[in-house]
Amino acid sequence: MSQFKWWQKAVFYQIYPRSFADGNGDGIGDFKGMLEKLDYLKDLGVNALWLSPHFPSPMYDCGYDISDYEQVAPEYGSMDDFKTFLKEAHAHGLPVILDLVLNHTSNEHRWFLESKSSRDNPKADWYVWVDTPPNNWQSCFDGPAWTFAPERGQYYYHYFMKQQPDLNWHNPDVRQAMWNAVRFWLDLGVDGFRLDAIGTIFEDPELTPHTVPLDLAGLRHLSDNAKTPAQRAQVEQYWHDMFKNQWSQPGVHELMKELRSVLNEYEGDRMLVGEDDDVSYQGNGEDELSIVFNFPLMRTDQLTPDWIRKNQQERMAALAKVSPGAWACNTLGNHDCSRIYTRYSASWNGGDSAQDASLARLNLAVVLTLRGTPFLYNGEEIGMTDYLIPDPARLRDTMATWYYDRLVNELHVEPSQAALRAAAMSRDKNRTPLQWRNAPNGGFCPESVTPWLPVNPDFAARINVQEQEKDPQSLLTFYRRLLLVRKATPALVEGDYQPIHESASELLAFLRSTPQQKVLVLMNFSEKQISHDFSDLAAHSVRDIFSSDRNPASGFPHLTLNPFEIWIAELN
Ligand code: GLC
Repeated sequence: MSQFKWWQKAVFYQIYPRSFADGNGDGIGDFKGMLEKLDYLKDLGVNALWLSPHFPSPMYDCGYDISDYEQVAPEYGSMDDFKTFLKEAHAHGLPVILDLVLNHTSNEHRWFLESKSSRDNPKADWYVWVDTPPNNWQSCFDGPAWTFAPERGQYYYHYFMKQQPDLNWHNPDVRQAMWNAVRFWLDLGVDGFRLDAIGTIFEDPELTPHTVPLDLAGLRHLSDNAKTPAQRAQVEQYWHDMFKNQWSQPGVHELMKELRSVLNEYEGDRMLVGEDDDVSYQGNGEDELSIVFNFPLMRTDQLTPDWIRKNQQERMAALAKVSPGAWACNTLGNHDCSRIYTRYSASWNGGDSAQDASLARLNLAVVLTLRGTPFLYNGEEIGMTDYLIPDPARLRDTMATWYYDRLVNELHVEPSQAALRAAAMSRDKNRTPLQWRNAPNGGFCPESVTPWLPVNPDFAARINVQEQEKDPQSLLTFYRRLLLVRKATPALVEGDYQPIHESASELLAFLRSTPQQKVLVLMNFSEKQISHDFSDLAAHSVRDIFSSDRNPASGFPHLTLNPFEIWIAELN
């Protein structure tokens, strides 16, 4: 039996509950909808689910501002609906992990309401309170990080927006209260958690001011207008300097150890994945988080073989220092960033949009064949693209509506220009409802209902599940095929990663090997046919496992790969 844990072998699929499937036809996704789509997910071939927050929330940050950690948002259903969903997901062989927001609660959470009510209530010290703002710290979403609460006559700290006050994690009562919420869901049988923004939990105890000569709106505006490499480098440095004292401060490791020990009270391999790229949060491989995301892989405008090789070399080296078995976790997209299909398309980089579909296939092949647990984001399997919502009144991402107001009212940008900027920086563009059919509202909700965010009209251009399901050439069919290949090829899941032919600039080539199986993975990143000599592997015979577009003329070890071809073969 393999010694690998379920979460090392699984491919995770992130469900954004509000946008995934609307079971009751009110324009908002819900548990009934998710339940109905379990067969779809099973057929797709993913093996585990991550739900973005499903808790009650006033929705200033789309559920990442939680007002009750032990309930289900009424618009998503009841606690019984959640239990039914969890039971059925398990029956479909799909473990479920939840989103756990530790840094902050909603300002409507009863803990905060009590804390702000007076300076001497039992929860007075559950948040971070000061008499006057001690520094110029900014919130990364909406201006100053200190907001006045008249009830107490004091200011509270928030790394995110003012509706998201930071908890005071130095207070042991806060820890116990949160661990009890964690136990609540573990008792129900959930399989683990994705940990939101763990880097923001502690602040510099010296409260050192930042040194950037701008506030948040000013820096965003400067970022929008940075064109040259020097300007971009300056802006990047400013972002780093503005927040460095509010991020990655001591204390997180101890906290993660405590949380891990809570999970260890339970049977089964309950897992933790951190929204952070710092592998040191994997502790000694056993005592902190199971995995953290390989975000550096996606921090580029263009995925190239050189970029991927360099990323893998750095990540593998970093993981090796954690522990011999420390595990990687690869992803290219989530609810916070531009959609994969848009971001890594040829057209985005000034190229030919005819290549976009091929690049989408390569992107998937990268995350499914590198070593580590892949995370996919709902909608990427049909090639959903960013949708720039033209009307600022329809935006729901508060950081974008806040920025729109600043642009118009403080920076005196023309409203139509400001609307374009807000639409482009808003995360709504990558959170629009899933496109199930070529029907009004993309089949997400009835025609007569206004969905919570507008549906991307490209559902009518075959970017919908129903039409792609029937089409052997569709991206959805490709996802299914490649997910099946991964499942059937142990070396792609468990094998070591060894890059080969590393100087080939347009070809990504590597081996994945277990003691029983050696697999060669090749990806042609160019729009041209390329020939490449693999005489170094000539001692092996090859067995085709998968090709996206096999060139019948190609032999081995002298290979000819078609434009953008992905070829996976077993070496014997
Ligand atoms: C994480 C979430 C993001 C949210 C933020 C604050 O980065 O992914 O959506 O806005 O934390 O909770």
